[in-house]
Amino acid sequence: MSASGRGAGGRGVGGRGASSTDTNESLFDRAQRVIPGGVNSPVRAFRSVGGTPYFVAEASGPFVYDVEGRRYIDYVQSYGPGICGHAHPAVVEAVKQAAGRGTSYGAPTHNEVLMAEEMSARVEGLEMVRLTNSGTEAVMSAVRLARGVTGRPTVVKFAGCYHGHSDALLVAGGSGVAQQGLAGSEGVTPGAVADTIVAPYNVVPELDESVAVVCVEPVAANMGLVAPQPGFLQGLRDACDEVGALLLFDEVITGFRLCRGGAAEWFGVQPDVWCFGKVIGGGLPIGAFGASTEIMSGLAPLGGVYQAGTLSGNPLATAAGLATLSLLDDDAYRQLEATAVVLQEGLEGAFAAAGVAAAVPRVGPLLGLFFTEEAPVDFDEARKAADNGCYPKFFHGMLRRGVAFAPGAYEAIFPSLAHTPAEIDATVSAAAETALEMADDSG
Ligand SMILES: Cc1ncc(COP(=O)(O)O)c(C=O)c1O
Repeated sequence: MSASGRGAGGRGVGGRGASSTDTNESLFDRAQRVIPGGVNSPVRAFRSVGGTPYFVAEASGPFVYDVEGRRYIDYVQSYGPGICGHAHPAVVEAVKQAAGRGTSYGAPTHNEVLMAEEMSARVEGLEMVRLTNSGTEAVMSAVRLARGVTGRPTVVKFAGCYHGHSDALLVAGGSGVAQQGLAGSEGVTPGAVADTIVAPYNVVPELDESVAVVCVEPVAANMGLVAPQPGFLQGLRDACDEVGALLLFDEVITGFRLCRGGAAEWFGVQPDVWCFGKVIGGGLPIGAFGASTEIMSGLAPLGGVYQAGTLSGNPLATAAGLATLSLLDDDAYRQLEATAVVLQEGLEGAFAAAGVAAAVPRVGPLLGLFFTEEAPVDFDEARKAADNGCYPKFFHGMLRRGVAFAPGAYEAIFPSLAHTPAEIDATVSAAAETALEMADDSG
């Protein structure tokens, strides 16, 4: 049976690894006994929206199916990796083929070379790449490299940006950190953040010569979606140049999603160091950081900055990543953006018709959603909008109608190449009904 042939509601998908008697509730009960909060990443826990997470049995194209056989049009898409939709045949086939040849060797492979060549061919100035197993590792390692090559201690980050969960960068983090209302994390010593400076997003900070690196999400996509204001990224470039600091674009979300060359191409501003993840692994664990040959030569075994990984450059991840990148040509980027435009306009229309104040910011194929008149420009504004009580109503209204957005107001919306006009129409209709419910509730 084709995926799209299965209706919403009812049982029967069965789910690999789930028995026919498993329900979301029963699995969540069991999960909470053996996994903290029942989840392996806090953003999945439904804490900020209430209710029980759906447990995914399988996924295909724009859809996920839970263990009770319910189908959802999925805009989570694993928080970004699913740019081609779930289980794209080319990606699945590449992974199958790779798995048959062995799952990890501890020796270099042809595909790692292809991956680095492909990435540097797409991103101007990205001359060398080192693969990691996650975005967290990529940014943590890139910051170490930046400190190593500059000989300076200070890292500047922006409030509401999320750069993974390494100690020095969790402070004022977006995504799950923001969702839990945390300023940072317990267990991080004052020493670990002593050299981290936090600045407001969209304001160019004053730098001095202690600054090794300025880390920024070129489009902030972990406090909802907050676009860089005109001049912000160029201002950062100029400020870094003035004091000899490096500029790091954390493109774990934007990389190979905005366009072929990522944010540098999109905004015409060149960083010194890039971090990637998500899209480049096609749904398998991966991260990457890169820079010019000169900067990357600071890294072991060429230089004295140590960085390593047993599974780095994993053959399944590189196979899935290469298959994914091969699908991302100019037509694909045009399609992604066109889909996002229709979804943006549809959602805006649905909320306007119901009299619900909402902003749907969009940068290329990336969307956000805030229940305020104006799209926020920094973390303070994003927090006010995210925590005003509207999002849980929207989230559950949509989920009941078979549309899955992230269970937290600080996440971006990820339409994929697999979302057809039929899914976008269905999403907009569901939003129109949900918006009327929200308007009734508040009236
Ligand atoms: C911009 C950004 N950087 C870094 C990370 C961390 O990546 P990972 O979850 O793969 O460790 C994320 C994850 O969402 C991210 O959005």
